[in-house]
Amino acid sequence: MPVDTILWENDNLIIIDQTLLPEKLVKKKLDTVEDVWEAIKKLRVRGAPAIGVTAAFGIVVALKSIEITDRKIFDAEFKKISDYLASSRPTAVNLFWALDRMAKVLENNPDLSVAKIIVKLTSEAVAIMNEDKTVCRQIGKFGSRLLPSKCTVLTHCNAGGLATADYGTALGVIYSAYESGKEIKVYADETRPLLQGSRLTAWELMHSGIEVTLICDNMAAKVMSEGKIDVVVVGADRIAANGDTANKIGTYMAALCAKYHNIPFYVAAPSSTFDLSLESGKKIPIEERAAEEITCGFGKRTAPEGIKVYSPAFDVTPAELITAYITEKGVIKADQIIDKLK
Ligand code: MRU
Repeated sequence: MPVDTILWENDNLIIIDQTLLPEKLVKKKLDTVEDVWEAIKKLRVRGAPAIGVTAAFGIVVALKSIEITDRKIFDAEFKKISDYLASSRPTAVNLFWALDRMAKVLENNPDLSVAKIIVKLTSEAVAIMNEDKTVCRQIGKFGSRLLPSKCTVLTHCNAGGLATADYGTALGVIYSAYESGKEIKVYADETRPLLQGSRLTAWELMHSGIEVTLICDNMAAKVMSEGKIDVVVVGADRIAANGDTANKIGTYMAALCAKYHNIPFYVAAPSSTFDLSLESGKKIPIEERAAEEITCGFGKRTAPEGIKVYSPAFDVTPAELITAYITEKGVIKADQIIDKLK
């Protein structure tokens, strides 16, 4: 990545405003918890791990100027802030996972003063960010071994450095293979309606010198039928205990196409994206987004006024379509999830 996706500098939270990419690379300082909520909601910062990291810092941003000294009152205020941040987006479990980690800091230190607990919360947010960087490198290393020395990978949405603290999950696999000398080419689904594939994945890969070809989502089956794709690698927002995987809308369709064409379909994700409390993907909450993102995307009306719209932001790919999961703990199959990640 040419710049940090999320930066914690001199007690300031700075993100890249991803809604402006690829036209402009603009950093945005998030001064209040409302700024953080809005940045997550509007996808200025997006991608499951990046949302988690940002929310953790969101807590710190909200609490750093607080004037409360009583721990009980402070803890109640923490809960309010955490619930507020948790209401920004429902699908990526990393958001709730990161907020839970922050809450544990309070639970584990009941007698610490407010000033000291804020210091601890700040360290925890920094740790969440730094761990994500390490975890993505590990995912990259494990995933790279699965790719043939010369191959073309299809990916959907953006699961790259922009979606994490650095390097990415699905794109981490591609970066790692490329860095190890493999000849890697990528097809990027554009990813309607918000175009994370064309705006973000294409931008990231071009920056890193990896050959990338952009296609519309509805071209994937044709490209596969032409023998142009060897492997599909995508990220995830939430993976249930049975391996069903929520990821950006259109992932399920890509998985079905891959199955038909006998192409391996890998999900690359940190263990923090696995939600073992959910038996299957049926229970994963799926975010629905505003109709205008489809009818009036990027300011251009492309559907008649008043048209009825359905806009789920994610779909669930059944485990049976997924060849394996590339995690920081290794490459695992659906039936190993509970044993390896519990
Ligand atoms: O709506 P978005 O852009 O946040 O959706 C992102 C995705 O679906 C990613 O594939 C997923 O979060 C994995 S990011 C490593």
